[in-house]
Amino acid sequence: EKYDFGMVGLGVMGRNFILNVVDNGFSAYGNDLDPEKVKALIDEGGDLDKVNASSDAKTFVDALSTPRKIMLLVPAGKIVDAVIESLIPLLDEGDIIIDGGNSFYTDTDRREAYLKQKGINFFGSGVSGGAKGARKGPSIMPGGSRKAYQHVKPIFEAVAAKYKGEPCVTYLGPKSAGNYVKMVHNGIEYSMMQLTSEIYDLLKKAGKLTNEELHQTYSKWNDGRLQSFLVEITADIFSQKDELTDGDLVDMILDKAKQKGTGKWTSQNAMDLGIPVPTIDIAVSMRQISALKSERIKADELYDRPTPSPIDKEELIENCEQALFFSFIMSYAQGMHQLSDASVEYGYELDLGEIAKIWRAGCIIRAALLADITEAYQNEPELENLLLSNSFVGKVQSTVGAARKVVAYGAANGIPLPGLFNALTYFDAYTSERLPLNVIQAQRDYFGSHTYERIDREGIFHTEWEED
Ligand code: 6PG
Repeated sequence: EKYDFGMVGLGVMGRNFILNVVDNGFSAYGNDLDPEKVKALIDEGGDLDKVNASSDAKTFVDALSTPRKIMLLVPAGKIVDAVIESLIPLLDEGDIIIDGGNSFYTDTDRREAYLKQKGINFFGSGVSGGAKGARKGPSIMPGGSRKAYQHVKPIFEAVAAKYKGEPCVTYLGPKSAGNYVKMVHNGIEYSMMQLTSEIYDLLKKAGKLTNEELHQTYSKWNDGRLQSFLVEITADIFSQKDELTDGDLVDMILDKAKQKGTGKWTSQNAMDLGIPVPTIDIAVSMRQISALKSERIKADELYDRPTPSPIDKEELIENCEQALFFSFIMSYAQGMHQLSDASVEYGYELDLGEIAKIWRAGCIIRAALLADITEAYQNEPELENLLLSNSFVGKVQSTVGAARKVVAYGAANGIPLPGLFNALTYFDAYTSERLPLNVIQAQRDYFGSHTYERIDREGIFHTEWEED
Protein backbone atom coordinates (compact mmCIF):
# COMPACT_ATOMS: atom_id res chain seq x y z
CA GLU A 1 0.00 0.00 0.00
CA LYS A 2 1.49 3.32 -1.10
CA TYR A 3 1.42 6.49 0.98
CA ASP A 4 -0.76 9.52 0.13
CA PHE A 5 1.67 12.31 0.93
CA GLY A 6 5.43 12.83 1.10
CA MET A 7 7.46 15.30 3.13
CA VAL A 8 11.10 16.21 2.66
CA GLY A 9 12.57 17.93 5.70
CA LEU A 10 11.60 16.55 9.09
CA GLY A 11 12.55 19.54 11.20
CA VAL A 12 9.92 20.78 13.60
CA MET A 13 7.69 22.24 10.83
CA GLY A 14 7.94 19.18 8.57
CA ARG A 15 7.36 16.71 11.37
CA ASN A 16 4.39 18.64 12.72
CA PHE A 17 2.84 19.05 9.28
CA ILE A 18 3.15 15.34 8.49
CA LEU A 19 1.59 14.36 11.82
CA ASN A 20 -1.26 16.75 11.05
CA VAL A 21 -1.74 15.04 7.65
CA VAL A 22 -1.88 11.67 9.39
CA ASP A 23 -4.32 12.92 12.03
CA ASN A 24 -6.64 13.78 9.18
CA GLY A 25 -6.81 10.24 7.84
CA PHE A 26 -4.11 10.28 5.16
CA SER A 27 -0.98 8.17 5.16
CA ALA A 28 2.34 9.98 4.84
CA TYR A 29 6.00 9.24 4.29
CA GLY A 30 8.86 11.44 5.42
CA ASN A 31 12.39 11.93 4.19
CA ASP A 32 15.35 13.60 5.84
CA LEU A 33 19.09 13.11 5.48
CA ASP A 34 19.36 13.05 9.25
CA PRO A 35 18.56 9.50 10.49
CA GLU A 36 17.76 10.88 13.95
CA LYS A 37 14.88 12.89 12.50
CA VAL A 38 13.65 9.88 10.53
CA LYS A 39 13.63 7.80 13.68
CA ALA A 40 11.94 10.54 15.70
CA LEU A 41 9.07 10.70 13.22
CA ILE A 42 8.61 6.92 13.11
CA ASP A 43 8.61 6.75 16.91
CA GLU A 44 6.11 9.57 17.22
CA GLY A 45 3.88 8.22 14.46
CA GLY A 46 3.48 4.82 16.05
CA ASP A 47 1.69 3.03 13.19
CA LEU A 48 3.95 2.30 10.19
CA ASP A 49 0.98 1.88 7.85
CA LYS A 50 0.07 5.50 8.50
CA VAL A 51 3.42 7.19 8.85
CA ASN A 52 6.82 5.99 7.82
CA ALA A 53 10.10 7.63 6.86
CA SER A 54 13.49 6.99 5.32
CA SER A 55 16.75 8.83 4.73
CA ASP A 56 16.97 7.31 1.30
CA ALA A 57 15.38 9.38 -1.46
CA LYS A 58 14.55 6.41 -3.72
CA THR A 59 12.87 4.42 -0.95
CA PHE A 60 10.91 7.58 -0.12
CA VAL A 61 9.78 8.31 -3.70
CA ASP A 62 8.89 4.64 -4.37
CA ALA A 63 6.69 4.58 -1.31
CA LEU A 64 4.35 7.29 -2.60
CA SER A 65 1.17 6.87 -4.65
CA THR A 66 1.04 8.70 -8.00
CA PRO A 67 0.76 11.45 -8.88
CA ARG A 68 3.18 11.90 -6.03
CA LYS A 69 2.55 14.82 -3.76
CA ILE A 70 5.84 15.80 -2.17
CA MET A 71 6.10 18.77 0.10
CA LEU A 72 9.43 20.36 0.99
CA LEU A 73 9.81 22.04 4.35
CA VAL A 74 13.49 22.88 4.18
CA PRO A 75 15.24 26.26 4.59
CA ALA A 76 14.62 28.64 1.65
CA GLY A 77 17.45 29.11 -0.82
CA LYS A 78 19.97 26.70 -2.33
CA ILE A 79 18.75 23.71 -0.31
CA VAL A 80 15.41 23.84 -2.13
CA ASP A 81 17.22 23.63 -5.48
CA ALA A 82 19.41 20.79 -4.23
CA VAL A 83 16.41 18.78 -3.02
CA ILE A 84 14.59 19.36 -6.33
CA GLU A 85 17.64 18.18 -8.31
CA SER A 86 17.90 15.03 -6.24
CA LEU A 87 14.20 14.23 -6.71
CA ILE A 88 13.95 14.86 -10.48
CA PRO A 89 15.49 11.57 -11.69
CA LEU A 90 13.21 9.61 -9.36
CA LEU A 91 9.91 11.26 -10.32
CA ASP A 92 7.33 10.58 -13.03
CA GLU A 93 5.46 13.01 -15.21
CA GLY A 94 2.52 14.58 -13.42
CA ASP A 95 4.11 14.34 -9.98
CA ILE A 96 3.80 17.38 -7.75
CA ILE A 97 6.43 19.14 -5.66
CA ILE A 98 5.21 21.68 -3.12
CA ASP A 99 7.68 24.12 -1.59
CA GLY A 100 6.22 25.05 1.79
CA GLY A 101 9.00 27.43 2.80
CA ASN A 102 9.39 31.18 2.55
CA SER A 103 11.05 31.09 -0.87
CA PHE A 104 11.60 34.31 -2.78
CA TYR A 105 8.91 34.57 -5.43
CA THR A 106 11.27 34.84 -8.41
CA ASP A 107 13.00 31.62 -7.29
CA THR A 108 9.59 29.97 -7.38
CA ASP A 109 8.92 31.26 -10.91
CA ARG A 110 12.28 29.90 -12.03
CA ARG A 111 11.71 26.48 -10.42
CA GLU A 112 8.17 26.24 -11.74
CA ALA A 113 9.26 26.93 -15.33
CA TYR A 114 12.20 24.53 -15.03
CA LEU A 115 10.09 21.68 -13.65
CA LYS A 116 7.30 22.28 -16.14
CA GLN A 117 9.72 21.30 -18.94
CA LYS A 118 10.15 17.99 -17.15
CA GLY A 119 6.40 17.47 -16.76
CA ILE A 120 6.52 18.04 -13.01
CA ASN A 121 4.10 20.41 -11.28
CA PHE A 122 5.62 22.82 -8.82
CA PHE A 123 3.77 24.71 -6.11
CA GLY A 124 5.17 27.57 -4.10
CA SER A 125 2.97 27.36 -1.08
CA GLY A 126 3.40 29.54 1.96
CA VAL A 127 2.54 27.94 5.27
CA SER A 128 1.83 30.21 8.20
CA GLY A 129 1.23 29.58 11.85
CA GLY A 130 4.58 28.44 13.18
CA ALA A 131 5.21 25.01 14.69
CA LYS A 132 1.87 24.84 16.47
CA GLY A 133 0.02 25.88 13.33
CA ALA A 134 1.71 23.15 11.29
CA ARG A 135 0.61 20.59 13.87
CA LYS A 136 -2.94 21.81 14.56
CA GLY A 137 -3.92 23.74 11.45
CA PRO A 138 -1.93 26.33 9.52
CA SER A 139 -3.09 28.81 6.92
CA ILE A 140 -1.77 27.56 3.57
CA MET A 141 -1.17 29.76 0.53
CA PRO A 142 -0.62 27.65 -2.59
CA GLY A 143 0.15 28.92 -6.08
CA GLY A 144 0.91 26.96 -9.24
CA SER A 145 -1.08 24.92 -11.74
CA ARG A 146 -4.80 25.11 -11.04
CA LYS A 147 -5.32 21.66 -12.53
CA ALA A 148 -2.64 19.97 -10.44
CA TYR A 149 -4.00 21.66 -7.32
CA GLN A 150 -6.99 19.31 -7.45
CA HIS A 151 -4.70 16.48 -6.32
CA VAL A 152 -3.40 18.44 -3.35
CA LYS A 153 -6.68 20.08 -2.39
CA PRO A 154 -8.26 17.30 -0.27
CA ILE A 155 -5.15 16.97 1.89
CA PHE A 156 -4.60 20.72 2.27
CA GLU A 157 -8.25 21.37 3.07
CA ALA A 158 -8.18 18.66 5.72
CA VAL A 159 -5.02 19.88 7.46
CA ALA A 160 -5.60 23.63 7.22
CA ALA A 161 -6.98 25.72 10.08
CA LYS A 162 -10.74 26.17 9.98
CA TYR A 163 -12.60 29.44 10.37
CA LYS A 164 -16.22 28.63 11.23
CA GLY A 165 -15.72 25.34 9.41
CA GLU A 166 -14.14 26.85 6.29
CA PRO A 167 -10.57 25.72 5.57
CA CYS A 168 -7.90 28.42 5.53
CA VAL A 169 -6.45 27.37 2.20
CA THR A 170 -7.42 28.04 -1.37
CA TYR A 171 -5.80 27.98 -4.77
CA LEU A 172 -4.41 31.52 -5.09
CA GLY A 173 -3.11 31.81 -8.63
CA PRO A 174 -0.45 30.70 -11.11
CA LYS A 175 3.33 30.66 -10.76
CA SER A 176 4.65 32.30 -7.60
CA ALA A 177 1.27 33.69 -6.44
CA GLY A 178 1.43 31.60 -3.26
CA ASN A 179 4.90 32.68 -2.20
CA TYR A 180 4.13 36.28 -3.09
CA VAL A 181 1.00 36.31 -0.95
CA LYS A 182 2.94 34.70 1.92
CA MET A 183 5.68 37.32 1.53
CA VAL A 184 3.16 40.16 1.90
CA HIS A 185 1.54 38.30 4.80
CA ASN A 186 4.93 38.47 6.48
CA GLY A 187 5.29 42.18 5.66
CA ILE A 188 1.98 42.79 7.43
CA GLU A 189 3.21 40.52 10.25
CA TYR A 190 6.32 42.69 10.67
CA SER A 191 4.25 45.85 10.87
CA MET A 192 1.74 44.44 13.36
CA MET A 193 4.61 43.21 15.53
CA GLN A 194 6.23 46.64 15.43
CA LEU A 195 2.93 48.35 16.33
CA THR A 196 2.19 46.05 19.28
CA SER A 197 5.71 46.62 20.58
CA GLU A 198 5.44 50.43 20.26
CA ILE A 199 2.22 50.46 22.24
CA TYR A 200 3.96 48.42 24.94
CA ASP A 201 6.77 50.99 25.04
CA LEU A 202 4.32 53.84 25.44
CA LEU A 203 2.21 52.13 28.10
CA LYS A 204 5.34 51.26 30.03
CA LYS A 205 7.20 54.57 29.75
CA ALA A 206 4.29 57.02 29.86
CA GLY A 207 1.60 55.04 31.66
CA LYS A 208 4.05 53.25 34.00
CA LEU A 209 2.14 50.01 33.52
CA THR A 210 3.67 46.99 35.20
CA ASN A 211 4.07 43.75 33.26
CA GLU A 212 1.04 42.41 35.08
CA GLU A 213 -1.00 45.44 34.02
CA LEU A 214 0.30 45.08 30.46
CA HIS A 215 -0.77 41.44 30.52
CA GLN A 216 -4.24 42.43 31.70
CA THR A 217 -4.53 45.26 29.18
CA TYR A 218 -3.54 43.16 26.16
CA SER A 219 -5.73 40.28 27.36
CA LYS A 220 -8.71 42.59 27.65
CA TRP A 221 -8.02 44.01 24.19
CA ASN A 222 -7.87 40.51 22.84
CA ASP A 223 -11.45 39.99 24.00
CA GLY A 224 -12.57 42.92 21.86
CA ARG A 225 -12.14 44.19 18.32
CA LEU A 226 -8.33 43.89 18.57
CA GLN A 227 -8.69 40.13 18.92
CA SER A 228 -5.72 38.66 17.08
CA PHE A 229 -3.00 36.08 17.45
CA LEU A 230 -0.32 38.74 17.95
CA VAL A 231 -2.19 40.62 20.68
CA GLU A 232 -3.01 37.30 22.36
CA ILE A 233 0.58 36.05 22.46
CA THR A 234 1.87 39.47 23.53
CA ALA A 235 -0.46 39.28 26.54
CA ASP A 236 1.07 35.89 27.37
CA ILE A 237 4.58 37.24 26.92
CA PHE A 238 4.05 39.87 29.64
CA SER A 239 3.14 37.25 32.22
CA GLN A 240 5.97 34.81 31.52
CA LYS A 241 8.32 34.43 34.50
CA ASP A 242 12.05 34.13 33.94
CA GLU A 243 13.58 30.81 34.90
CA LEU A 244 17.08 32.18 35.39
CA THR A 245 16.25 35.14 37.61
CA ASP A 246 13.17 35.82 39.66
CA GLY A 247 11.98 38.58 37.31
CA ASP A 248 9.83 38.60 34.20
CA LEU A 249 11.30 37.11 31.05
CA VAL A 250 10.31 40.01 28.75
CA ASP A 251 12.60 42.36 30.69
CA MET A 252 15.58 40.05 30.25
CA ILE A 253 15.34 39.67 26.46
CA LEU A 254 17.87 41.64 24.41
CA ASP A 255 16.18 44.34 22.31
CA LYS A 256 17.78 43.37 19.00
CA ALA A 257 15.35 41.83 16.51
CA LYS A 258 16.54 39.38 13.90
CA GLN A 259 14.94 38.82 10.50
CA LYS A 260 15.05 36.25 7.75
CA GLY A 261 14.17 38.59 4.91
CA THR A 262 10.49 38.30 4.03
CA GLY A 263 9.58 41.71 5.47
CA LYS A 264 12.45 43.36 3.65
CA TRP A 265 11.44 41.66 0.39
CA THR A 266 7.90 42.99 0.82
CA SER A 267 9.22 46.54 1.16
CA GLN A 268 11.72 46.17 -1.67
CA ASN A 269 9.09 44.83 -4.02
CA ALA A 270 6.56 47.47 -3.01
CA MET A 271 9.15 50.07 -4.00
CA ASP A 272 9.57 48.37 -7.38
CA LEU A 273 5.81 48.32 -7.90
CA GLY A 274 5.46 51.93 -6.76
CA ILE A 275 2.99 51.05 -4.02
CA PRO A 276 3.50 52.82 -0.68
CA VAL A 277 3.69 50.50 2.35
CA PRO A 278 5.34 52.84 4.88
CA THR A 279 4.20 50.99 7.98
CA ILE A 280 5.86 47.83 6.68
CA ASP A 281 8.97 49.77 5.60
CA ILE A 282 9.45 51.28 9.02
CA ALA A 283 8.97 47.92 10.71
CA VAL A 284 11.92 46.62 8.69
CA SER A 285 13.96 49.75 9.48
CA MET A 286 13.23 49.39 13.19
CA ARG A 287 14.64 45.86 13.21
CA GLN A 288 17.71 47.34 11.57
CA ILE A 289 17.95 50.17 14.12
CA SER A 290 17.46 47.65 16.91
CA ALA A 291 20.45 45.69 15.63
CA LEU A 292 22.70 48.75 16.10
CA LYS A 293 22.70 48.25 19.84
CA SER A 294 26.28 49.34 20.55
CA GLU A 295 25.83 52.53 18.52
CA ARG A 296 22.53 53.18 20.27
CA ILE A 297 24.23 52.91 23.63
CA LYS A 298 26.84 55.50 22.63
CA ALA A 299 24.26 57.84 21.13
CA ASP A 300 22.03 57.55 24.18
CA GLU A 301 24.82 59.04 26.27
CA LEU A 302 25.28 62.01 23.91
CA TYR A 303 21.72 63.31 23.86
CA ASP A 304 19.09 64.27 26.38
CA ARG A 305 15.60 62.94 26.18
CA PRO A 306 12.51 64.50 27.77
CA THR A 307 11.08 62.84 30.84
CA PRO A 308 7.60 61.65 29.85
CA SER A 309 5.05 64.13 31.15
CA PRO A 310 2.29 62.90 33.48
CA ILE A 311 -0.70 61.41 31.71
CA ASP A 312 -4.01 59.90 32.79
CA LYS A 313 -3.43 56.16 32.74
CA GLU A 314 -6.94 55.05 31.88
CA GLU A 315 -7.21 57.59 29.09
CA LEU A 316 -3.83 56.50 27.72
CA ILE A 317 -4.91 52.84 27.66
CA GLU A 318 -8.13 53.79 25.90
CA ASN A 319 -6.26 55.87 23.31
CA CYS A 320 -3.73 53.09 22.76
CA GLU A 321 -6.49 50.59 22.04
CA GLN A 322 -7.92 52.89 19.40
CA ALA A 323 -4.53 53.78 17.93
CA LEU A 324 -3.58 50.11 17.64
CA PHE A 325 -6.87 49.29 15.94
CA PHE A 326 -6.40 52.22 13.56
CA SER A 327 -2.84 51.24 12.70
CA PHE A 328 -3.69 47.55 12.23
CA ILE A 329 -6.20 48.69 9.60
CA MET A 330 -3.47 50.76 7.91
CA SER A 331 -1.14 47.72 7.86
CA TYR A 332 -3.71 45.51 6.20
CA ALA A 333 -4.70 48.31 3.82
CA GLN A 334 -1.10 48.72 2.66
CA GLY A 335 -0.46 44.98 2.26
CA MET A 336 -3.71 44.41 0.39
CA HIS A 337 -2.97 47.39 -1.85
CA GLN A 338 0.39 45.84 -2.71
CA LEU A 339 -1.28 42.51 -3.49
CA SER A 340 -3.83 44.13 -5.76
CA ASP A 341 -1.11 45.85 -7.76
CA ALA A 342 1.19 42.81 -7.86
CA SER A 343 -1.73 40.73 -9.10
CA VAL A 344 -1.93 42.87 -12.24
CA GLU A 345 1.83 43.29 -12.63
CA TYR A 346 2.65 39.59 -12.34
CA GLY A 347 -0.58 38.12 -13.74
CA TYR A 348 -1.55 36.35 -10.52
CA GLU A 349 -5.27 37.09 -10.84
CA LEU A 350 -5.56 37.26 -7.07
CA ASP A 351 -8.93 37.35 -5.37
CA LEU A 352 -8.32 39.61 -2.37
CA GLY A 353 -11.52 38.49 -0.63
CA GLU A 354 -10.29 34.88 -0.78
CA ILE A 355 -6.89 35.90 0.60
CA ALA A 356 -8.39 37.78 3.55
CA LYS A 357 -10.62 34.75 4.07
CA ILE A 358 -7.77 32.25 4.41
CA TRP A 359 -5.99 34.62 6.80
CA ARG A 360 -8.91 34.57 9.27
CA ALA A 361 -7.45 31.58 11.13
CA GLY A 362 -4.22 29.63 11.34
CA CYS A 363 -1.74 32.32 10.30
CA ILE A 364 0.31 34.77 12.34
CA ILE A 365 -1.70 37.83 11.21
CA ARG A 366 -5.09 36.28 11.95
CA ALA A 367 -7.39 38.77 13.61
CA ALA A 368 -11.06 39.53 14.07
CA LEU A 369 -10.55 42.44 11.66
CA LEU A 370 -9.93 40.01 8.81
CA ALA A 371 -13.58 38.96 8.83
CA ASP A 372 -14.50 42.58 8.04
CA ILE A 373 -11.75 42.85 5.44
CA THR A 374 -13.00 39.66 3.78
CA GLU A 375 -16.48 41.13 3.60
CA ALA A 376 -15.23 44.45 2.21
CA TYR A 377 -13.43 42.71 -0.68
CA GLN A 378 -16.26 40.26 -1.28
CA ASN A 379 -18.66 43.18 -1.65
CA GLU A 380 -16.25 45.17 -3.82
CA PRO A 381 -13.70 42.87 -5.50
CA GLU A 382 -12.20 45.79 -7.42
CA LEU A 383 -11.54 47.87 -4.30
CA GLU A 384 -8.27 49.75 -4.87
CA ASN A 385 -7.63 50.30 -1.18
CA LEU A 386 -9.40 49.23 1.99
CA LEU A 387 -9.64 52.91 2.96
CA LEU A 388 -12.03 53.40 0.02
CA SER A 389 -14.47 50.86 1.41
CA ASN A 390 -17.52 52.46 2.99
CA SER A 391 -17.50 49.73 5.61
CA PHE A 392 -14.14 50.98 6.91
CA VAL A 393 -14.80 54.72 7.03
CA GLY A 394 -16.53 54.54 10.42
CA LYS A 395 -13.86 52.31 11.97
CA VAL A 396 -11.07 54.61 10.80
CA GLN A 397 -12.81 57.91 11.49
CA SER A 398 -13.66 56.92 15.06
CA THR A 399 -10.08 55.91 15.95
CA VAL A 400 -7.85 58.33 14.06
CA GLY A 401 -8.26 61.00 16.75
CA ALA A 402 -6.72 58.70 19.36
CA ALA A 403 -3.91 57.82 16.96
CA ARG A 404 -3.14 61.54 16.67
CA LYS A 405 -3.04 61.97 20.45
CA VAL A 406 -0.80 58.96 20.95
CA VAL A 407 1.63 59.94 18.20
CA ALA A 408 1.75 63.56 19.40
CA TYR A 409 2.51 62.42 22.93
CA GLY A 410 5.30 60.17 21.69
CA ALA A 411 6.82 62.97 19.62
CA ALA A 412 6.67 65.48 22.49
CA ASN A 413 8.11 63.05 25.01
CA GLY A 414 10.85 61.35 23.03
CA ILE A 415 9.23 57.91 22.75
CA PRO A 416 9.78 56.53 19.26
CA LEU A 417 6.49 55.42 17.72
CA PRO A 418 7.46 55.24 14.05
CA GLY A 419 5.00 52.51 13.05
CA LEU A 420 2.07 54.40 14.52
CA PHE A 421 3.37 57.64 13.10
CA ASN A 422 3.77 56.19 9.61
CA ALA A 423 0.32 54.61 9.77
CA LEU A 424 -1.13 58.02 10.60
CA THR A 425 0.89 59.86 7.97
CA TYR A 426 -0.07 57.28 5.39
CA PHE A 427 -3.70 57.89 6.26
CA ASP A 428 -3.39 61.68 6.20
CA ALA A 429 -1.57 61.66 2.89
CA TYR A 430 -3.71 59.04 1.18
CA THR A 431 -6.86 60.89 2.16
CA SER A 432 -5.62 64.34 1.10
CA GLU A 433 -7.11 65.64 -2.08
CA ARG A 434 -4.19 68.04 -2.41
CA LEU A 435 -0.61 67.32 -1.35
CA PRO A 436 2.37 69.70 -1.53
CA LEU A 437 4.00 67.73 -4.34
CA ASN A 438 3.13 70.55 -6.72
CA VAL A 439 6.22 72.21 -5.23
CA ILE A 440 8.32 69.14 -6.04
CA GLN A 441 7.12 69.27 -9.63
CA ALA A 442 7.99 72.98 -9.74
CA GLN A 443 11.46 72.27 -8.34
CA ARG A 444 12.05 69.50 -10.86
CA ASP A 445 11.03 71.77 -13.67
CA TYR A 446 13.09 74.64 -12.25
CA PHE A 447 16.41 72.81 -12.03
CA GLY A 448 16.02 70.16 -14.69
CA SER A 449 13.28 71.20 -17.12
CA HIS A 450 11.48 68.00 -16.14
CA THR A 451 8.08 69.57 -17.02
CA TYR A 452 4.83 69.50 -15.06
CA GLU A 453 1.11 69.09 -15.58
CA ARG A 454 -1.51 71.68 -14.56
CA ILE A 455 -4.72 71.42 -12.61
CA ASP A 456 -6.71 73.58 -15.00
CA ARG A 457 -5.81 72.30 -18.47
CA GLU A 458 -4.43 69.25 -20.31
CA GLY A 459 -0.87 69.04 -21.56
CA ILE A 460 2.76 69.08 -20.50
CA PHE A 461 4.23 72.42 -19.43
CA HIS A 462 7.66 73.87 -18.90
CA THR A 463 8.45 77.29 -17.48
CA GLU A 464 11.56 79.43 -17.76
CA TRP A 465 11.67 80.10 -14.01
CA GLU A 466 12.75 83.57 -13.09
CA GLU A 467 15.70 83.77 -10.74
CA ASP A 468 15.34 86.39 -8.07
C1 6PG B 1 4.56 32.47 9.68
C2 6PG B 1 5.83 33.27 9.85
C3 6PG B 1 7.07 32.51 9.53
C4 6PG B 1 8.35 33.35 9.63
C5 6PG B 1 8.64 33.86 10.99
C6 6PG B 1 10.04 34.45 11.16
O1 6PG B 1 3.73 32.95 8.93
O2 6PG B 1 4.42 31.41 10.29
O3 6PG B 1 5.78 34.37 8.98
O4 6PG B 1 6.94 32.02 8.23
O5 6PG B 1 9.40 32.55 9.25
O6 6PG B 1 7.72 34.81 11.34
O7 6PG B 1 10.27 35.56 10.34
P1 6PG B 1 11.48 36.55 10.67
O8 6PG B 1 12.62 35.68 11.16
O9 6PG B 1 11.84 37.24 9.42
O10 6PG B 1 10.99 37.45 11.75
